[in-house]
Amino acid sequence: MNIETTKQSPATCKADWLILLTISDETPGGTVAEVDAAIGGRLATLRERGEFRAEKNETLSLYQVDGIAAANLLLVGVGSSDGLNLRTFRQALQCGLRTCCQRKDQLVAVAFDNAVTDSLPASVVAQTFAESATIAATDADIYRRKPARHELTAATLCMVTDSPVDSALQRGTVIGTRCSMVKQLVNRTANDLTPEAFATFAATEAANSGVEVEVLHQDRLEEERMGALLAVAQGSALPPRLVRLTWNGADSGTEYAIVGKGVTFDSGGYSIKPSDSMVSMKADMAGAATALGAVLAAAELKLPIRLNVYLGLVENMISGSAYRLGDVITARNGTTIEIHNTDAEGRLVMADALAYAVDNGAEKLIDMATLTGACVVALGEEITGVFAGCESLQADLVAAAEQVGEYFWPMPMHDHFAPLLKSKVADCRNVGPRWGGAVTAAKFLQQFTEGADWVHLDIAGPSWADSANGWQDAGGTADPLRSIVAWLDNAAASS
Ligand code: BES
Ligand code: MN
Ligand code: ZN
Repeated sequence: MNIETTKQSPATCKADWLILLTISDETPGGTVAEVDAAIGGRLATLRERGEFRAEKNETLSLYQVDGIAAANLLLVGVGSSDGLNLRTFRQALQCGLRTCCQRKDQLVAVAFDNAVTDSLPASVVAQTFAESATIAATDADIYRRKPARHELTAATLCMVTDSPVDSALQRGTVIGTRCSMVKQLVNRTANDLTPEAFATFAATEAANSGVEVEVLHQDRLEEERMGALLAVAQGSALPPRLVRLTWNGADSGTEYAIVGKGVTFDSGGYSIKPSDSMVSMKADMAGAATALGAVLAAAELKLPIRLNVYLGLVENMISGSAYRLGDVITARNGTTIEIHNTDAEGRLVMADALAYAVDNGAEKLIDMATLTGACVVALGEEITGVFAGCESLQADLVAAAEQVGEYFWPMPMHDHFAPLLKSKVADCRNVGPRWGGAVTAAKFLQQFTEGADWVHLDIAGPSWADSANGWQDAGGTADPLRSIVAWLDNAAASS
């Protein structure tokens, strides 16, 4: 796909579609007025009659429009100019671009009401445009013979600005490509994306992007004493993997590390899930997918940082060899864990992967995991729960999310949660009582992070969309990849 900007007026831009992002305020800004003048005031008429109100993510297709060089005009609302931010802008842009992807080989030009370009920096607008154009055709129907959407042939942004935006377009393309990859990984089914297939995929992508990779198989995991990760894996016919990916963009400086939960299917084990909750558990590897996306993007953006990413890849199944309720297992760092719920498997996988990251020199360590339903109950489906072992690292992450229009929310980590994990027979148990389940899960993880600044991100809500809406399909969302890349980028800039 060709992604570019032009200083040409949108009215004279040749394309199959001109997408016009419009605010709902009484007087639309210059760009919109310009196009409206070219089409004989039709837009003003539509607005007067209430046939197009420019409300958030409202779309209206006008075919074979005279007066502009584009064949068709797609109006997309962004709501009122005072509610305008990067998130509403991105959603509206996605709505428009996704609509155009319904046909093959489309050339698309995009123009915004001036309110958009006035409220967001040109580089942010250009980057978001490139990201969205790259992602637009990515849907959940990856196994259909005839997918609903098709990649655009070209996407041209009509924007008059003095600042150079080429590098922003490139950044957006890199991030958009990796967002697409994350969505597709999350959407792949457990019979297709096994731990082994995931590891192979990661190794191939890493090699293509100049990232070092090491894949640990069963014997190595035993040698490394990863008893917690292995306990989860032992019920599955599919062997586990732990993937380590290294991007050395600098010779010295802070060692960053990201650990991702990669449970390719979570049946719950003997604490079996009801069917309705199990059906989407192919997505329980979203943390690992996002972590992979982050290291690949860091390499492709040549960020001058040192970063290690660890993917804990296992399947949580039921069989004659599966781990049981009441079992006591020993994690890599020596902690003994009494199993009170085999469905609290993510924290076991993460325990060993976190300890391994620390042993390999992680200084600033984050993890991403679809860890608890409790976090979704607390924050809903669009917000990442942030659990701080380290306040300053939390502040950096929250700031990065703010920058890219994703939602992060700090959760409490008071000391009184930790004793809730006490066991009568072992150092701890793997679950606490019902209340505060997202926090006790984080407290559990904290035991394996000693020696590093650490923050846990529970992405059970935002990494997955249960149903489609105008701006995204149902399935994997790639949230919060953009925040993680921004965080790494900020880290690189301040080092
Ligand atoms: N993978 C689930 C968490 C999850 C729930 C992710 C909903 C996405 C959507 C995790 O392994 C799990 O089963 N957690 C249990 C923990 C409980 C047993 C303490 C949960 O949330 O019920
Ligand atoms: Mn589970
Ligand atoms: Zn799980």
